Amino acid sequence: MIAAPRHFAALATRLRWDPEALDLAADAAAWQALDGALRRQLTVLLAGFCVAEHRVAGELAPFAPTARDPVTAAVFTAQRADEQRHDRVFDRIAELILGAPGQDASSRRDFVRGIVPAPLLDLFEERLPQTALALALGRADLLEGVSLYHLILEGVVLSAGQRALLVALGDGTLPNLRHAIQLVERDERWHVGFGLRCVLELRPDPTIVVTLMAEGEAAVQAWGPAIPVEIRRRVLAQHRRRLAAIGLLPAGGIHAAVGRAG
Ligand SMILES: [Fe+2]
Ligand SMILES: [Fe+2]
Repeated sequence: MIAAPRHFAALATRLRWDPEALDLAADAAAWQALDGALRRQLTVLLAGFCVAEHRVAGELAPFAPTARDPVTAAVFTAQRADEQRHDRVFDRIAELILGAPGQDASSRRDFVRGIVPAPLLDLFEERLPQTALALALGRADLLEGVSLYHLILEGVVLSAGQRALLVALGDGTLPNLRHAIQLVERDERWHVGFGLRCVLELRPDPTIVVTLMAEGEAAVQAWGPAIPVEIRRRVLAQHRRRLAAIGLLPAGGIHAAVGRAG
């Protein structure tokens, strides 16, 4: 059962946290002592989030005005406030943990951008802005926007990144950094749930499941080797279960959905 929009508005208020309150400086010394391979994997993931969260915070703006009702619009606005918190905490991580130079967030982001895999940059700096602009101009509908933003970028790409970070930080060497990722991941769970609710209400043609699965399978590769194969597999399985939960994947699988629609 997918919750009603009012439930997400209440959750957004209850889960709010302060990105300035996390003592990330305490983890910076421990970062220097990490194993080289682990530090390289974490660097790619954290740099990716630094770029991605900045983009999702900005590109969510046209979603609220296209919502069907004021409660749904208010939830998009609350989600945007979450994304701005995520943007801020990953900027602090870039500065304090990754040691990105620069006087402001923009220059620090430019620095870490050089570490981010090209397919990830393409998703967040090309595809997402293009879709958000099309939505703002009325050339794309909310279904298109939420499918890309909530189901693919948040539900697959960022979810894979959060899981990989939580596993890589699992030994507790950097407890405050891990706590920051847990807080972001907790917010993202309701964002994806809200996206599913939107898709459910927009009543898409069942054949959309073919596109959403293919997009998910391509998008989960965007991080490159920074995401272990087992995590990719689990994230895609979860993507499939989410689509099934809103009636988009019948027991017979994707081919049955296509056959039924045809
Ligand atoms: Fe986020
Ligand atoms: Fe989000």
